Amino acid sequence: MNALITGSSKGIGYAIAKKFVQNNINVILHSRNIIECESAKSELELLNSKGNILCCEADLSKKNGIEILSEFVYKNIQELDILLNNAGTYIKGDILNAQEGTLEKLMDINLYSAYNLTHRLIPKLRKSRSAHIFNICSIAGLNPYKGGSLYCISKFAMNGFSRCLREELKSEGIKVTTVYPGATWSDSWKNSNVSDSRIMQAEDVAEAIISCIRMSPAAVVEEILLRPQLGDL
Ligand SMILES: NC(=O)c1ccc[n+]([C@@H]2O[C@H](COP(=O)([O-])OP(=O)(O)OC[C@H]3O[C@@H](n4cnc5c(N)ncnc54)[C@H](OP(=O)(O)O)[C@@H]3O)[C@@H](O)[C@H]2O)c1
Repeated sequence: MNALITGSSKGIGYAIAKKFVQNNINVILHSRNIIECESAKSELELLNSKGNILCCEADLSKKNGIEILSEFVYKNIQELDILLNNAGTYIKGDILNAQEGTLEKLMDINLYSAYNLTHRLIPKLRKSRSAHIFNICSIAGLNPYKGGSLYCISKFAMNGFSRCLREELKSEGIKVTTVYPGATWSDSWKNSNVSDSRIMQAEDVAEAIISCIRMSPAAVVEEILLRPQLGDL
């Protein structure tokens, strides 16, 4: 099986890549920084020397970044079985006080990157007998909160995209899963004082995703909602 995981040099994307490599799934690692991707690749190769790990650098907030990554996929792998739209970012800000252009920036990376990349890669996914698309949304795409309204808007949009895609691809046998993680340890939490036990680990998200891949063709997990045991932060 071959998987493309966007934004997989670190954080949740990297944890998923690690889980895939441990389960003999070949991965394309991706981010805007090829050096970080290559370093992630070296770490992953230590876990499974038989796997095929490739790296691609592309800025998905730009149309030509989508082209670079999709061309890379068409040129370098025979079949694409898993597309995992994970690349995303958090910028704080509310509707009434955010700097001009903030919503556009968030929509470019948190929605349009997944929308455009999926569009571009659907012909390739159709050739797989077990195609599966995962869209990493957020609990911010289910419940709004003050301070992060613009991020919430972008994740509500991602939620809508993913659920509509599920309806469109249902009859073709292509699975679509929307993932709503709550607070999960990654670089964005580095400067917070949150303790390890209060927040989920990226490996928890990866574990939930691999269990969906193991299901029979007759079943799809439409939604995964994960929260820290003590609730939202
Ligand atoms: N951590 C949480 O608490 C949490 C909770 C719910 C949902 N999420 C979602 O989970 C996903 C991953 O988040 P994370 O916390 O793991 O973030 P992270 O540690 O910051 O990792 C983000 C990844 O995306 C890449 N990326 C960012 N902007 C990009 C762009 N314009 N083009 C291409 N690649 C880009 C980053 O690499 P470069 O910066 O080097 O390009 C990195 O590989 C996001 O969609 C986020 O919204 C996170």
